[in-house]
Amino acid sequence: MFFFRSNMFYLPEIETGRLLLRQIRVSDAADVFAYSKDPEVARYVLWPAQKDIREAKDYCRAMVRQYRLDEPSSWGIIDRSSGHLIGTIGYMDYDSGNRSTEIGYSLARWKWNQGIMTEALRQVIQYTFSEMEINRIEAQHETENPASGRVMEKCGMKKEGVLRQRLYNKGRFVDVCLYSILRSEAEQMKKNG
Ligand SMILES: CC(C)(COP(=O)(O)OP(=O)(O)OC[C@H]1O[C@@H](n2cnc3c(N)ncnc32)[C@H](O)[C@@H]1OP(=O)(O)O)[C@@H](O)C(=O)NCCC(=O)NCCS
Repeated sequence: MFFFRSNMFYLPEIETGRLLLRQIRVSDAADVFAYSKDPEVARYVLWPAQKDIREAKDYCRAMVRQYRLDEPSSWGIIDRSSGHLIGTIGYMDYDSGNRSTEIGYSLARWKWNQGIMTEALRQVIQYTFSEMEINRIEAQHETENPASGRVMEKCGMKKEGVLRQRLYNKGRFVDVCLYSILRSEAEQMKKNG
């Protein structure tokens, strides 16, 4: 049985060992710009590297607006040891009829390969199934970005296949791998510890 909350996409604070996930503020703009200006971070996401801190401010303002409108939006990922925002993770899309959502994320390059996004995604998957009426979580990554697929696998997501030239990104059509995890699988994983 599914029940709908009126503020379904309200994002509460979530703590993990090294991280705090919290709503993004306009005052985070300098931290957002510090990593979003990096073309390596932007290479496989659907936004271009930021050129000016004003773009980071616009992004933060757009997030604040989405929170207000209860639209799918992202948490800021805060490094608890420094207090800085080092990335984002959140809901890209929501399909109410089929109770499914898509998750996306990005992280500052100087924090890559330390298990950070795996730590964040695990918590977001757990939160989504325990607090939201969602049956299926999807995520996709460009086939040329296998590190992202590895994060999905480590969090128990299953690869469903490759969608050929599904996206047009930065001047070319790119193949993407589609991953998902179902509520029943997440519940089983929880039971198995
Ligand atoms: C993709 C991204 C989120 C990964 O975050 P992260 O915190 O570095 O991920 P983790 O450290 O939790 O795990 C990364 C895994 O990928 C592996 N990996 C890294 N580079 C790899 C590569 N070129 N090929 C295969 N695996 C790779 C790492 O070894 C690690 O796996 P392991 O724990 O089994 O050794 C981060 O690199 C990022 O933000 N990139 C830019 C934005 C982006 O691409 N977002 C995703 C769009 S789909």
